[in-house]
Amino acid sequence: MQTERGSGAASRAVAARILDAVLHQGRSLKAEFASHLPTLADPRDRALVEAAVMAALREHGRYADALNGWMTRPPGKRDGVLRALLYIGFAQLDVMGLPAHAAVAATVDAARNLKYAHQAGLVNAVLRRALREPLPARRADAAWPRWLSMRVRKDWPEDAEAIFAASAVPPPMWLRVNRQKVSREAYVEKLQRAGIGHALLEALPDAVYLPEPVPVDTLPGFAEGEVSIQDGSAQRLLDALDIAPGVRVLDACAAPGGKAAHLIERYPATRLLALDVDARRVRRMAETFARTGAAVQARAFDATATESWWDGEPFAAIIIDAPCSATGVVRRQPDILLHRREDDIPRLVALQARLLDALWPLLAPGGVLLYATCSLLSAENSRQIAAFLSRSADARLLPLDARFGRDTGYGHQRLPGENAMDGFFYARIEKARG
Ligand SMILES: C[S@@+](CC[C@H](N)C(=O)[O-])C[C@H]1O[C@@H](n2cnc3c(N)ncnc32)[C@H](O)[C@@H]1O
Repeated sequence: MQTERGSGAASRAVAARILDAVLHQGRSLKAEFASHLPTLADPRDRALVEAAVMAALREHGRYADALNGWMTRPPGKRDGVLRALLYIGFAQLDVMGLPAHAAVAATVDAARNLKYAHQAGLVNAVLRRALREPLPARRADAAWPRWLSMRVRKDWPEDAEAIFAASAVPPPMWLRVNRQKVSREAYVEKLQRAGIGHALLEALPDAVYLPEPVPVDTLPGFAEGEVSIQDGSAQRLLDALDIAPGVRVLDACAAPGGKAAHLIERYPATRLLALDVDARRVRRMAETFARTGAAVQARAFDATATESWWDGEPFAAIIIDAPCSATGVVRRQPDILLHRREDDIPRLVALQARLLDALWPLLAPGGVLLYATCSLLSAENSRQIAAFLSRSADARLLPLDARFGRDTGYGHQRLPGENAMDGFFYARIEKARG
């Protein structure tokens, strides 16, 4: 058994390894969490690692400034894990509010675990300085690459600062209750019995809001498919759809299956085909459907290559939850800001246009296409839809109401943090009859 201090040092070392991989080696945060967190037996250690890494990713610009100001030779590329450990130390003192002396001691011990015993004195000295002197002031857009913060400022001149601020704070947790299995009222009682704080906010019929996230495996009925994790803005999408029982629907970019499972929970008789180009993500989607009991056909195909998978029967509705810059969900995935490149945007815009053009002919006359992204950029959203409408004579934009966020003229946009939700874009397009 590890001592209190031993397990504290182990979790700081794991946090530093994850942060180093994401920050300095271009690795994905989700994948690093998935491979490292199971090595820690105690759920409290896992929670501490997650919180410390997320905080350090949000604040790494300031922490780098602190090291540059305080050290003549801050750790360089070859000592990335040492630099990461110092950031983990700062995060504990700066935003996590942990008892300072225990946090410093565990972080210094972690330097030894990471084979930096010869630098333990330096880690101690730097963190003690951070106890005495303030770290550089917060700047909400510090973690954003300049080209991207400029695009956000250009698209949202009035709201850019609020967007950066909302993207820099830990998000709440949203649950979607599977009302095929349990009523929302009955599920809320289970949360009450489990002592999990919750609220029912505005008119999202399947949602429960948890201001303080909890580990998924502590949620009552999760393994039985009674609830799923899904932000309110993603749940809102289905309110733009009104379909008759038994119709055929395509979810073209469906993995990991959140919106497809929601659709089947709400309209169980739907004949839903869920495609995704990424076979690994399709396997995860199939697991989601097995857990929630959704009868959905999940298949790995490039949706734009319609000749390879379409059988010729038109769809009454098509959902394109498009691959995008994910700029609306930075609060959940701060590593987006590290991995996104400027030339990704025109590539994504072209892919979104190809998806729209390839799938539109598969929609039945009178049918509805829902286009959605978790992006904030007009090129992927309102300008994408304006361009599509201008080249599609039989396409008409249908109105949405204020529950979907603000009207851009070509679809509705929710900015991150509004109504406690992620940033999201929605457009509802109808195909002319005959
Ligand atoms: C925003 S995610 C979808 C999230 C999903 N709808 C949900 O609610 O869980 C976008 C998805 O598009 C997929 N994708 C990208 N290009 C595609 C293509 N050409 N055909 C089908 N899927 C594609 C990606 O693999 C990714 O899983």
